[in-house]
Amino acid sequence: MSDKRANFGSKLGMILATAGGAVGLGNVWRFPYMVGENGGAAFILIYLGCVLLLGIPCMVSEFIIGRHGASNTYRAYARVSGGKAWKFVGLLGVLTGFLITGYYAVVSGWCLQYIYASVMGELHGDSLFVQNYFTTFSTNPVRPIFWLSVILLTAHFVIIHGVRGGIERASKLLMPTLFILLLVIVVASCLLPGASRGIDFLLKPDFGKVDQGVFLGALGQSFYSLSIAMGCICTYASYYSRQTNLLASAIQVSVVDTMVAILAGLMIFPAAFSVGVNPDSGPSLIFITLPNVFNEAFGSMPVMGWVVSLMFYGLLSLAALTSLMSLHEVSTSFFYEELHISRKKGAVIVTVSTIIIGAFCSLSLGGKDYLRVAGMSLFDAFDFVTGQIFLPVGGFLTCVFLGWFVPKKVVRDEFTNWGTLSARFFGIFLFLVRFVCPLAILAIFLHQLNVI
Ligand code: PHE
Repeated sequence: MSDKRANFGSKLGMILATAGGAVGLGNVWRFPYMVGENGGAAFILIYLGCVLLLGIPCMVSEFIIGRHGASNTYRAYARVSGGKAWKFVGLLGVLTGFLITGYYAVVSGWCLQYIYASVMGELHGDSLFVQNYFTTFSTNPVRPIFWLSVILLTAHFVIIHGVRGGIERASKLLMPTLFILLLVIVVASCLLPGASRGIDFLLKPDFGKVDQGVFLGALGQSFYSLSIAMGCICTYASYYSRQTNLLASAIQVSVVDTMVAILAGLMIFPAAFSVGVNPDSGPSLIFITLPNVFNEAFGSMPVMGWVVSLMFYGLLSLAALTSLMSLHEVSTSFFYEELHISRKKGAVIVTVSTIIIGAFCSLSLGGKDYLRVAGMSLFDAFDFVTGQIFLPVGGFLTCVFLGWFVPKKVVRDEFTNWGTLSARFFGIFLFLVRFVCPLAILAIFLHQLNVI
């Protein structure tokens, strides 16, 4: 383990950077919807259980491999396993992160376009107009590619400044800004007439809706939201200092991520219910439903509508950018360490190749037939393969590796380092990672493939 490896300069910077990687579009476009559809506060409780019993142990497992391996994800797995075949699990993490970058950048680019559109007042019109605006824009062959390149180049710019000067500095600026924007919009949304119905919908517990699917949905959402099994957590942990308490850090990151998700719900539902619109999930929530909501809710106060819309897409872009930075770093560290090139050159390889992948994903939405795979657009195919196959497989193998194959002494030393409190939880942690997490991940995997 080289002493010269870059590291985060402060505890706050490290937590904000890791939380920045975790907080992303998933918190805003998927979590609130899942809460509303799956029993409100009942879902939130199940989600918290999943984070506590499964998300945090998986995150700590990746932290352990990353910090002990002190290297890019591929090499970290190789080192921790003593060069055994487990390194391919690390490679899978890098590959998953790499493939997601291009596709995630497409949607991140859309957020930038919507900042532009908010400033130019292009989103005003009835619901059909807003719907057409999105379809016309997202299937345009040039514009989305321009914006995805802009956001990837921004991430590139941060990454080439290194771990402290780039990622940590940017996160310390961007994350508090994101929080402030979020809080201001929550207040604006909750002050609208009739907002309380939205708050009720989000928070009223309805245990009648809870079934097996709700549990598995909460589980899948917690893994996606915490960026488990994508290489991001492991890569950032390789920059953690020896003094970092891994359990405490995983808890802090999860608290921030969950708070942002719940606040996102308090931002979206009150406004949507105040104008009588039923919230959706995914891209259509953000790019079709919400512009309509802003138009209607603030129709009599156009300046307010303009400001809220601008702040909302600004916030989304920040959330997307910090996640993209973490994804970019996974591949950049892989290339520069494995090919023995400079960080800058590694970053150029990643930026150029992910712009190309993103461009193809974007073009595939324009209905290009040669960009279809197994009956899906390339965009959906990337989402499916990475999110539904690579993520659970990587997560499962990581738990099995850490729980059963990494020498217990290594795991214990990393886990209990700098914390007597952590020492008390070691037994529980090991039990969860050995038995509960792999079984739970297997269940999500089979459920997604409609086997159970
Ligand atoms: N956790 C991110 C979100 O909630 C998604 C993501 C996954 C980001 C993997 C980066 C890497 O949107």
